[in-house]
Amino acid sequence: MELAGAITIFLGIYLSCLLVISTWRKHSRYKNLPPGPTPLPLIGNFLQIKMGDTLKSLERLRDQYGPVFTVYFGSKPIVVLCGHEAVKEALVDQAEEFSGRGAMPTVEKNFQGHGVVFANGERWRQLRRFSLTVLRNFGMGKRSIEERIREEAQYLLEAFRNTKAEPFDPTYFLSRAVSNVICSIVFGNRFDYEDKEFLSLLQMMNESFREISTPWSQFYDMYSSFLKYFPGPHTKIYHILEDMRKFIAKRVKQNQATLDSSSPRDFIDCFLIQMEKEKKNPSSEFNTTNLVLTTLNLFFAGTETVSSTLRYGFLFLMKYPEVEEKVHREIDHVIGRHRVPASEDRMKMPYTDAVIHEIQRLTDIVPLGVPHTVIRDTQFRGYTLPKGTNVFPLLGSVLRDTKYFSSPEEFNPGHFLDENGRFKKNEAFVPFSSGRRVCLGEGLARMELFLFLTTILQRFALQPLVAPKDIDVSPRMSGFGNVPPTYQLCLVPR
Ligand code: HEM
Ligand SMILES: *[C@@H]1O[C@H](CO)[C@@H](O)[C@H](O)[C@H]1NC(C)=O
Ligand SMILES: *[C@@H]1O[C@H](CO)[C@@H](O)[C@H](O)[C@H]1NC(C)=O
Repeated sequence: MELAGAITIFLGIYLSCLLVISTWRKHSRYKNLPPGPTPLPLIGNFLQIKMGDTLKSLERLRDQYGPVFTVYFGSKPIVVLCGHEAVKEALVDQAEEFSGRGAMPTVEKNFQGHGVVFANGERWRQLRRFSLTVLRNFGMGKRSIEERIREEAQYLLEAFRNTKAEPFDPTYFLSRAVSNVICSIVFGNRFDYEDKEFLSLLQMMNESFREISTPWSQFYDMYSSFLKYFPGPHTKIYHILEDMRKFIAKRVKQNQATLDSSSPRDFIDCFLIQMEKEKKNPSSEFNTTNLVLTTLNLFFAGTETVSSTLRYGFLFLMKYPEVEEKVHREIDHVIGRHRVPASEDRMKMPYTDAVIHEIQRLTDIVPLGVPHTVIRDTQFRGYTLPKGTNVFPLLGSVLRDTKYFSSPEEFNPGHFLDENGRFKKNEAFVPFSSGRRVCLGEGLARMELFLFLTTILQRFALQPLVAPKDIDVSPRMSGFGNVPPTYQLCLVPR
């Protein structure tokens, strides 16, 4: 009897909460949000979102509520945008309003709004403009970014030759090479593939990525206002990122000690020179906090994205050998077997360009996008989004928009070719997102994908260990990021 009494009281309280909340919502500033499933107190729409398969759950809600809807993660409303039209109307047509960075609770304690990815307002503007300038090759000494990538591609070739056409897992080969490109840009040097310090840096990156992609972390992201008072996976992420921050801070000290303002060697030198220039400006955002955390951002945003895309790319090429064959032929025709590929070759290689676009489209590296927020009260499609409302542009739903891709689920380079075999742009191609927050490393990433892929395919043919039709290309994990399946292959010299 006592149990029944307790349950009745609990239900009573719970139902009154429901009533209070639904009344409150009608009168609150959130009263004109897009439609969506009714949230429950504390847990929000937990019952409608399947952890570990967030994209699918959200796409199911789109079928019910249309391309723009609201879901509650805990007590926080999130406005979700699906398909090319809705995402473009927000991020491009109302670019300024939608340019804020939304909350990412799992890493909040490490960054606290510093560093270009998590900054907002004037801080973000200054850090973004500066980082873009440096990445576009202004003022970073004598060696261009392209040279740095070409050098690294040669080291990667050598490592591949050492596999002697035996089966191996390409994961670490690719992530070391890609990470070294960022190292060369920010630290001014690449690391030997066996260097202990380098391997521990990669280990930290690997672990934090794994932690951030677990269903637990996603759960934490949704219910952080409550869970932050308890120990959990976020404590682990915090410590790993803290170790990486210390590593970078140490490198910054080394640069400071050896800085020659007249010949900057790398990104850190350029930043230090800017700090010096703005020493007297009280509103300058150029200090060591932003330097270290922006550098950490570049590592994170620039390593796993490019290397996972390449890893997925190999897999698609093995599943569709006729596509690989055509790329080989185009490389032989335009570059030949001996000259090292250069980024200007891309213009003469529409087929390879289309293949890389199609690889990026299906790899869909950040299917849910990176959270945005509106920086002021915003009218959108007749709804009112109060300042600070989080917005998820579902990039995965744009990349598979049936209106823009004839066979969205299939690997088909034809999505990016016209009837004469010329490269054809597609406005729903948004793996880098769009608008003011568009990926800051887009140019670098595209150059890396092209140079690494052509350099490898100029020398090697990919050989799977199973029949092409048996290759499974569905992601191993799909959370914040899509993680490609693990596999082995042989690289056969050609
Ligand atoms: C295939 C490779 C890559 C993909 C698919 C990719 C994708 C993205 C996406 C979807 C965003 C979020 C944009 C938004 O907020 O709407 C982003 C942001 C960002 N990416 Fe990339 N990225 C890639 C490579 C890189 C590289 C190589 C770098 C390093 C330089 C980089 C640096 C950044 C930075 C700093 C931001 C934050 C920009 C800001 O908040 O203003 N990314 N990227
Ligand atoms: C991280 O390392 C583990 C084991 O060392 C490996 O299985 C996994 O694929 C790595 N993950 C990434 C993203 O490199
Ligand atoms: C850098 O500036 C930010 C505010 O813009 C401040 O929070 C931070 O403590 C500063 N860091 C240093 C090392 O001065």
